[in-house]
Amino acid sequence: MAEIKLTDLTKSYGPTEVLHHVEGEIKDGEFIVIVGPSGCGKSTLLRMVAGLETVTSGEIAIAGRRVNELEPSARDIAMVFQNYALYPHMSVRENMAYGLKIRKLSKAEINKRVEEAADILEIRQYLDRKPRQLSGGQRQRVAMGRAIVRDPQVFLFDEPLSNLDAKLRVQMRLEIRKLQQRLGVTSIYVTHDQVEAMTLGDRLMVLNGGYVEQFGTPIELYDRPASVFVAGFIGSPAMNFIPAMVEGDTMVLSTQAKLPAISSYRGAALLGIRPEHLTPDENGPIAIDVDMVEQLGANTLLHGKLNGSDHEMVASVPGHVSTETGAQHRFSVASELLHLFDPATEKRLEA
Ligand SMILES: Nc1ncnc2c1ncn2[C@@H]1O[C@H](COP(=O)(O)OP(=O)(O)O)[C@@H](O)[C@H]1O
Ligand SMILES: [Mg+2]
Repeated sequence: MAEIKLTDLTKSYGPTEVLHHVEGEIKDGEFIVIVGPSGCGKSTLLRMVAGLETVTSGEIAIAGRRVNELEPSARDIAMVFQNYALYPHMSVRENMAYGLKIRKLSKAEINKRVEEAADILEIRQYLDRKPRQLSGGQRQRVAMGRAIVRDPQVFLFDEPLSNLDAKLRVQMRLEIRKLQQRLGVTSIYVTHDQVEAMTLGDRLMVLNGGYVEQFGTPIELYDRPASVFVAGFIGSPAMNFIPAMVEGDTMVLSTQAKLPAISSYRGAALLGIRPEHLTPDENGPIAIDVDMVEQLGANTLLHGKLNGSDHEMVASVPGHVSTETGAQHRFSVASELLHLFDPATEKRLEA
């Protein structure tokens, strides 16, 4: 059982604190994705779990044991990096076997583990090749294989797919997900890509400037984002935000459009509407003067200005929509799909 517990975890480089009071519990066998923009502290947090960075304050526990002072090799963790870190002069088999040789496993045991992992990853026919004789995707599999053969308690991945082209990335992320489900090893995966995070993670830890903004399932983050940051980060195209004033039973948008109030909150607010939640409706309160159309096949994105203002707005409508720039389209949106945030704290306003 390898649950991981992060308690009030802080990291400073010199006087600069880059991670602030990170809390989180990862269950045995769970696949967690740490997601956030570049520089928010994802790699630092992962490397602290691996033992490659010291902990400034707080505690990391793996399987109920404090590991702050343990060497990386004593933590029973395998890490897969973005650059694969393969030895160029060694064959695939030697690369995968290397860590096991150091741990002095028998030749027979090493061969068994390497061949099992090679079968799982479908790279058996490449075992005698050198890394340079492999494609990017195959190298990535070798790097995964090297982690699998160690049979660790925990897998850590730091943007392992970012060197691959878009199509291969999509394929590999499905493979990683299937592999993790099959092996059931507790995993932490770091990426800046929100789509990758949503497809891979049982739960996502959203980091922003070293703070945990929210830690929840993909659906929780999508349906009930805890902050403007999470709301804007999860979902594509990004959520529309419109300043509003809630007075009486009415929410008056900065563009003078009116919607019924959705909660008991009164006062200034930031209203969030996902593009895909705008429903075409001739009598709807939201009008977009379209100035750009993106035909994506499965859906159409209508970009434009809201209610004759200069406020940018985008709607995502299923299927093909034939329109021309300058045309006005009207929409309504179901109350339960609206999001309200405090304009000062940028936190979600609950009913
Ligand atoms: N060794 C280091 N010394 C000083 N600052 C560092 C060091 N490593 C990372 N940082 C800083 O810590 C912050 C988080 O970095 P990092 O964890 O690499 O972010 P991410 O992986 O999310 O892109 C950044 O501001 C970065 O400049
Ligand atoms: Mg990083």
